Amino acid sequence: MAISLDRSHVTDALHTLDTDRTALDDLALDAHRRVLEGETESPDMLGWRELLLSPDDALLESVIEVASEIRERADVLLCIGIGGSYLGAEAVMDALVPPFSSDGPEILFAGHHLGPDYHTRLFDYLEGKSVYVNVISKSGTTLEPALAFRMARRFLEERFDDADRRVIATTDAAKGTLHDFAIEQGYRRYIVPDDVGGRFSVVTPVGLLPIAVAGIDVRSMFYGAVSEARDFTDADASSAVLQYAADRYAFHEAGYATEVMAVMDPRLRGIGAWWQQLFGESEGKEGKGLFPVVLQYTTDLHSVGQYVQQGQRTMVESFLRIDDADAGPSVSEIDGNADGLNYLAGKPYGFINEKAYQGTAEAHLEGDVPNWTLTLPRLDAEHVGRLLSFYMHAVAVSGTMLDVNPFNQPGVETYKQKMFSLLGKPE
Ligand code: PA5
Repeated sequence: MAISLDRSHVTDALHTLDTDRTALDDLALDAHRRVLEGETESPDMLGWRELLLSPDDALLESVIEVASEIRERADVLLCIGIGGSYLGAEAVMDALVPPFSSDGPEILFAGHHLGPDYHTRLFDYLEGKSVYVNVISKSGTTLEPALAFRMARRFLEERFDDADRRVIATTDAAKGTLHDFAIEQGYRRYIVPDDVGGRFSVVTPVGLLPIAVAGIDVRSMFYGAVSEARDFTDADASSAVLQYAADRYAFHEAGYATEVMAVMDPRLRGIGAWWQQLFGESEGKEGKGLFPVVLQYTTDLHSVGQYVQQGQRTMVESFLRIDDADAGPSVSEIDGNADGLNYLAGKPYGFINEKAYQGTAEAHLEGDVPNWTLTLPRLDAEHVGRLLSFYMHAVAVSGTMLDVNPFNQPGVETYKQKMFSLLGKPE
């Protein structure tokens, strides 16, 4: 079943912007056509789409086989990577690994920041456990994961006779420090294809291996992404993905600056963090792009909700929710009604959450925050795959509409140069 987009809370705002909808739809359709036909900027970076349209089942099965070995032998899989090299896997795990469960190895992350305390305590915590490491870096040279991997290697080598067997390196096919080192050590390797950027790599072994180790039905997730990508092939201007891209563009051109993704379930927060990177790195250049921020409701309604309702009016909002009004425990009736909640007796959490969403969407519209709602019919592997595909296509189209290159991230280099100079890195 498809993901649905409700635009009823953006249409009035779009009318007042006086946009020529036909011209806007044509622009979105043209950008869409350019994505399909490889006429975007950096057309050689559309590999994520190709690998969904021509799935490599042998690769998928190999990932599943290695994942089962790790599931059998490891207490912990340590995933080392930053940015696109970990956010996709974390997003899918957040969505699909049930909270408070302990099926299979614990999956931990490292090298996704430079926090000193985290990296000290992490290796203390790993002591005495059977540890496998998946080091993921397309370039093979990124400082954060390279440092963590140096520590992880030493940790493994000092404790396990089969240390090299416990490392799976996911990196470039032919170049980079990690590639060369993996060859030298005889590590098992997976490839990040040249034509797939980090933030589009969740559908490659970058995401698939950790996701499979987490016990998620990675075939359904991957094929969910495949189905969505195939559906785009004959999408027209009325399709959800193009309407979303076209509306965003209209708001951007009218001076809106921020898009809040409001997730209505904590399991969707990781998807929001992944979306934030996907849109931030793809659109945020040449002074353009909507600044993407993820908020989790109702939690954040008691925090920055005040700002969303009444702060600077330059914000659009996209709700992301699950159609699960009948899910969760129901409120029980109590004698005396001391807490005054009997009016909710018999109502499940999902119902109350749905009303919270509806009330918030209306309140924010009244506060001049136009909002869309994306609804997943259910939160399962297939629909998570579909959602990933939806956003990857949406950003390729919307970046193309903005006339930026959605597949590069030149701005990320600036902090690196300053940091390396301060660290005294040799030329
Ligand atoms: O989306 C991107 O390309 C980036 O976020 C990268 O994934 C991130 O910088 C890590 O790069 P690498 O995988 O080369 O270590």
